[in-house]
Amino acid sequence: MTTPAQPRTQWLGRWGFILAATGSAVGLGNIWKFPYMTGEYGGGAFVLVYLACILAVGVPVMMTEIALGRRGRGSPVDAIRRVVTESGRTSAWSLLGWMAMLCGFMILSFYVVVAGWAFSYLWKMLSGGLAGSGVEEMGAIFGANNANPFNLGFWSTLVTLLTMLIVGKGVQKGIEKSVSWMMPGMVVMLAILILYGVFSGGFGQAVHFLFAFNAGSLSSEGMLAALGHAFFTLSLASGAILTYGSYLPARTSIARTTLSVALADTVVALMAGLAIFPVIFANGMDPGEGPGLIFMSLPLAFQAMPLGTLFGILFFIMLSMAALTSSISMVEATVSWLCDNKGLSRRTASWSTGIVLWLISTLAMLSFNVGADWTLAGKHFFDWLDYLTSRWMMPLGGLGMALLAGFVLKNAIMREEFGLSGPVYALWLFMVRYVSPLGIVVIFIDALGVAEV
Ligand code: PHE
Ligand code: NA
Repeated sequence: MTTPAQPRTQWLGRWGFILAATGSAVGLGNIWKFPYMTGEYGGGAFVLVYLACILAVGVPVMMTEIALGRRGRGSPVDAIRRVVTESGRTSAWSLLGWMAMLCGFMILSFYVVVAGWAFSYLWKMLSGGLAGSGVEEMGAIFGANNANPFNLGFWSTLVTLLTMLIVGKGVQKGIEKSVSWMMPGMVVMLAILILYGVFSGGFGQAVHFLFAFNAGSLSSEGMLAALGHAFFTLSLASGAILTYGSYLPARTSIARTTLSVALADTVVALMAGLAIFPVIFANGMDPGEGPGLIFMSLPLAFQAMPLGTLFGILFFIMLSMAALTSSISMVEATVSWLCDNKGLSRRTASWSTGIVLWLISTLAMLSFNVGADWTLAGKHFFDWLDYLTSRWMMPLGGLGMALLAGFVLKNAIMREEFGLSGPVYALWLFMVRYVSPLGIVVIFIDALGVAEV
């Protein structure tokens, strides 16, 4: 059953993996999803739980996934099966790999729609489609952009095509290059927006909203949302990081790499919050506006600031690039599985994946126009993809990874992969055995309890 690990392509250069993993992590999750969820769930308490989840669950699970990928040298399914077999246990655990692969694919199916928003706003910036409008008009522009399925479908199709084109070209050439200039660019753009916020009012209110911890204000559902978002933002339990780990050279330090990726991701998310909420408060907008939040607020800032059009164009270029470096990581698991197990070439594997992706993402795209009424339990298809992955599949997948690493795998294997000193290794083991699983289970039970009342 288990094929021996074959020699596998590796990242080129010392920075290859860090760049690619950071590119995967930093994306729409930081700039689009984090602010609007923080707004929806009321601010500081959500941010605090989210940060705690990154540290207590995200970091240990990310280390686990990278180690699994590197040890197993394959897609999530194959890598997990190999490492479990090496530990002398049964391969039922590879179900975790299947769920991760499915999860990455489901995320991508709605991610391309949001990335399509980013690309269409870049176009609007370039063509003057956002000029001279106030708060209400911004809402109307966002609505109109969604209302026409051919318009929205054009943009999500474009993102799908670009993603599959890059993935089809292969690991090194396709992925590595684009990240090295995109990340610093994004940080500079956010810094400019924050600076604008400092001088234009609303900044104090934004800081208070993001960082004032008000214990009573977070619902159980909000806590589960914060946990799910910690997985989402670090690209965990979805095949992305594990598969990227399978290309990691043997000597790179997994712990150090994980910390720098998690740090970069957190910094960008918090910067995005500090950039966006001043605009929201200065313009009297509702922080709980929902998924359209950044698209309705940021253009207002770009209109008002000096050189705004130029900065706006640069910002949406960065956002589109950040979305692409994430989207390519979501299909890597599926494509690498197809290549290893079905003998397909990378090109064939990516284009066949792309066709299925296009069909499902088109359904998700229709949620915003002709399919707005196709709901189940009040959620349309786009919402369901997000809900199932972030609230269920990723927390459960992360729980599985932690338990697998903590209790099932031979300790010696993980220890060898990490190459950590005794106490640091013991800390990781303590985290994946007790802290992360308990954290996940407690948040789950809490959220389910409320759902039943
Ligand atoms: N981490 C990415 C972001 O924040 C999203 C992502 C999720 C990427 C799952 C890969 C896998 O935008
Ligand atoms: Na992220």
